[in-house]
Amino acid sequence: MREIAVFGGSSHPALTAEICAHLAVPQRPVLLKRFANDCLEVQLQSNCRERDVFLIQSLVRPVQENLVELLLMADAARGASAARVNAVIPHFAYARSDKKDAPRISIGGRLVADLLVTAGVDRVLTLNLHSPQVHGFFSVPVDHLHALRELAGHFRQRDLSNAVVVSPDLGYAKSAAAFARRLGLPVAAGAKERFSDSEVRITAIIGDVAGHDVIILDDEISRGTTVFELLDRLREQGARSIAVACTHGLFADNALDKLAASDVTEIVCTNTAPLEAEHPKLTVLSVAPALAEAIRRIHDGESVSSLFDH
Ligand code: R5P
Repeated sequence: MREIAVFGGSSHPALTAEICAHLAVPQRPVLLKRFANDCLEVQLQSNCRERDVFLIQSLVRPVQENLVELLLMADAARGASAARVNAVIPHFAYARSDKKDAPRISIGGRLVADLLVTAGVDRVLTLNLHSPQVHGFFSVPVDHLHALRELAGHFRQRDLSNAVVVSPDLGYAKSAAAFARRLGLPVAAGAKERFSDSEVRITAIIGDVAGHDVIILDDEISRGTTVFELLDRLREQGARSIAVACTHGLFADNALDKLAASDVTEIVCTNTAPLEAEHPKLTVLSVAPALAEAIRRIHDGESVSSLFDH
């Protein structure tokens, strides 16, 4: 069996350390240098030759810096004769750029997938892509996990006798339905239209929310535009209480503070993105055990889907 070698980029050191602890393997050192001309250089400071190399890097702010770092790490591993280069990308931010919905724009998700493969990535492990078809942008194998098991485990501790799961849009309704099935709950979805990064409209909610304890489920909360719009509709329709859950808690533009200051009962996300802010209403669930188990299975040639299927 080839040796496993895990390296982490600078995007999320705490998650890398947690994954390594679960795998019971050392975290290999990486040296990052920035030259006077602002270019980066990455040195993997441990032998990669014939190793099964895993590079952990979340594409979170600063996304472009973290992306280039990951590309340089992949190229360095390939150049150092790694047997296989696996990119572990807990949050693949460019997945939101998945269609040409305006003239003369790039489908960034596809371009970044190509860049990763060109840099030497042989395989990708990621979590909750913005839309499942982004998986197909990659010409190498992708293991696409979700965090529904972790999120459902959290909500199982709550009184769910009057609860309903609500997806903000029809695009995420399938995942919300899978989540609701895990909890034995009904599901509803918003009819959402997005006009810009900071403007959305939800005109209706399909399903019954009046008098119910709502759990909003989304893939990510960025500015919170979507969730704030949904909160308005849910209040208008007489929801009894509202909790908010997502996989990627990005919380741009003080979204966490604003959301916590609202009437939501709790906010639950995972640690795919590093979070400095804390709040009594916020619970952060770790995806490190799931990622570590997936890494172990990939390394040992075992089925990953059997573990993480809906
Ligand atoms: C949208 O299509 C996604 O599912 C999320 O609802 C969206 O990315 C959240 O972004 P924001 O919090 O800025 O509305």
